[in-house]
Amino acid sequence: MMYISRRIRFSASHRLHNPALSDEENRNIFGACNNPHGHGHDYDVEVVVAGEPDPKTGMFLNLRDLKHVLERYVTGPADRRSLDHEVPFMQGRISTTENLAMAIWNEVAPRLPAGTLHLVRVRESDNNVVEYTGP
Ligand code: NI
Repeated sequence: MMYISRRIRFSASHRLHNPALSDEENRNIFGACNNPHGHGHDYDVEVVVAGEPDPKTGMFLNLRDLKHVLERYVTGPADRRSLDHEVPFMQGRISTTENLAMAIWNEVAPRLPAGTLHLVRVRESDNNVVEYTGP
């Protein structure tokens, strides 16, 4: 088994807020991340795909094809957008790094040109990283 990873980066804004909770509860849980006008991050995402190389090509995954999937389904919809208001795959989810990692998994896993998705790692800041290995 081999692993290929590709990194993508995008900038997006968000606000952590659960509409099912009161404003006070939201402030208590999410703190400054609940500020009404939101804030931004430079997200740094790594997608790791597992597979076995094809003897004909020496590759199990063409990185060019993976790049296209990531651009079309993740970076394109998310870059310079509000995760909460504009990004289709984040609608109905609180825009935590955890939920972003799961949503990216859901976007990418069924569209991989080859191999199987092994890990999605989302770095929201230098200090905060979430890794998701699938359902
Ligand atoms: Ni934030």
